[in-house]
Amino acid sequence: MSHKSPKDFFAPLAVGAPAPLREIPARPSRAIHFFDPSNPKMAAKVPAMVGTVDVLLGNLEDAVKADNKVAAREGLVKIASETANLGGNRGPTQLWTRINSLDSPWVLDDLVTLVTEIGDKLDVVMVPKVQGPEDIHYVDRLLAQLEAKGGVQKPILIHAILETARGVANVEEIALASPRMQGISLGPADLAADRKMKTTRVGGGHPGYLVRQDPVDGDIHGNRTVFQQDLWHYTIAKMVDACAAAGIYPYYGPFGDITDVVAAEDQFRNAFLLGCVGTWSLHPKQIEIANRVFSPSVEDIKHARRVVAAMGDGTGAVMLDGKMEDDASLKQCLVLVDLAEELAAIDPKLKELYDTIEIED
Ligand code: GLV
Ligand code: MG
Repeated sequence: MSHKSPKDFFAPLAVGAPAPLREIPARPSRAIHFFDPSNPKMAAKVPAMVGTVDVLLGNLEDAVKADNKVAAREGLVKIASETANLGGNRGPTQLWTRINSLDSPWVLDDLVTLVTEIGDKLDVVMVPKVQGPEDIHYVDRLLAQLEAKGGVQKPILIHAILETARGVANVEEIALASPRMQGISLGPADLAADRKMKTTRVGGGHPGYLVRQDPVDGDIHGNRTVFQQDLWHYTIAKMVDACAAAGIYPYYGPFGDITDVVAAEDQFRNAFLLGCVGTWSLHPKQIEIANRVFSPSVEDIKHARRVVAAMGDGTGAVMLDGKMEDDASLKQCLVLVDLAEELAAIDPKLKELYDTIEIED
């Protein structure tokens, strides 16, 4: 017998650790804004960003120089301790961290220090380069031991980055590996390298990945429209299914071309339409884009509320503007209405926007 009893799944993995959650709360996390806690200029901006972004993430992994790893860890402890309204349930802005990879010389001290010193403020630990459920099991037990040691009252959740070929192959098992699993993000840069894709970018499309319109009158060199395809479609769709099946949340990841706000918006919107709840932000400019894209539009909510009203008890079918609406389209509309309510609860501007929507008959 290799499976544990379902009832044991929700028992703490260490004596004195808080009980695992039975459901992952749907807390808004449209933008996960990365900052380097070892960079004093960036760190100084953090307190003023609380309340303007759903998630602030202190990054300890890639993009932090080896010589700065300890400074980043200590910087994060300092910022978390000194910023009163950040993390835990102290306000709308969550505090996450991205720890170093599990095979690195830093990760053990990252976890020991962060959980025992700021464990009550830390909502989610993002684990990079996850290969399979065994990586989640390792972090799961260690977090429980450290929560017990540090007297942490609420379980710290785990977020996996999907950035290895093996991780993609195991994504369903990763999503189901622990009641701590909060979500999964696409890591297009590491994933491209690990898969040996022949690209050199951090996320986004590629002009070489295309299909071409058929030739007109056999003229293969004539004017033929090309359509760029999305390199990430397969992985995002697979990740969304794994997350939805496990009751956790999928995210796009980094979009490295900070200047191309137009293409970033397109890529974020594709992810939103496919089921993702948010994305990473690598620059304050991307927070605004993410907040807009991952919040249902006024038109979406107007239509969704109209369908909800027209469907009455939710059964049967009605015609609206020549289109058939039934239980299934109603359920889609409810996804948007529920999301709008969750967002309105923490975002006064959105609340005002959604509150003024008038439904047509
Ligand atoms: C993110 O970590 C990536 O590798 O894309
Ligand atoms: Mg990476």
